[in-house]
Amino acid sequence: MSDANVAIRLLQNSDSLAALTELLHRAYAPLGEMGMNFKAIVQSVAETENRAKRGVCFVAVAGEELIGTISLWPPHNDPGSEWYHRPEVASANQFAVEPQWQKQGIGGRLLARGEQWAREAGYSELAVDTALPATHLIDYYTRHGFRQVEFVTWPLRNFSSVILSKTLDRVAHGR
Ligand SMILES: CC(C)(COP(=O)(O)OP(=O)(O)OC[C@H]1O[C@@H](n2cnc3c(N)ncnc32)[C@H](O)[C@@H]1OP(=O)(O)O)[C@@H](O)C(=O)NCCC(=O)NCCS
Repeated sequence: MSDANVAIRLLQNSDSLAALTELLHRAYAPLGEMGMNFKAIVQSVAETENRAKRGVCFVAVAGEELIGTISLWPPHNDPGSEWYHRPEVASANQFAVEPQWQKQGIGGRLLARGEQWAREAGYSELAVDTALPATHLIDYYTRHGFRQVEFVTWPLRNFSSVILSKTLDRVAHGR
């Protein structure tokens, strides 16, 4: 099946959170092999659900199979980052594509859908964070128009992180 047969839609109640969690584990496992203890390598189904339901969760589906996901959160006051506290900043979290489906543009489509959601919800920035040693991810986000805005260290993580943010085009009105 090609990328053209992959749909991006909101997570539905009928979707399996266990399957979504297993997808996250598989996608993030290589980061673990690189020595970074990202939460998504081992998180529980309940954590997946909590993180998906802090905002909106989009999934990529090929037929009946979940093959990608991204969760968008509104601004929040979790300690550690001042950028995420800003009222104009939405954030993208638990972003993953099934390994065998990677490098076909599905991640780019999920990110674009997240940007569209954030723009339509009235936010002017979409931010992500990733590990400083994950230079391939920093490069990926930079190629997608994100810039580095803050350095943070999250509790329980064995790496320092960078927050990258992208200024969103304004929604066109008056058409
Ligand atoms: C990050 C992640 C979600 C990206 O998903 P993806 O579907 O592979 O993303 P894309 O296909 O849009 O882009 C990946 C690369 O494939 C390339 N690509 C896209 N379509 C392509 C195609 N049709 N043919 C060949 N290459 C293609 C892109 O140019 C991009 O190259 P780059 O990394 O050199 O910029 C995925 O790699 C993943 O799940 N990683 C593990 C979890 C993770 O790191 N999450 C983020 C934590 S902060």
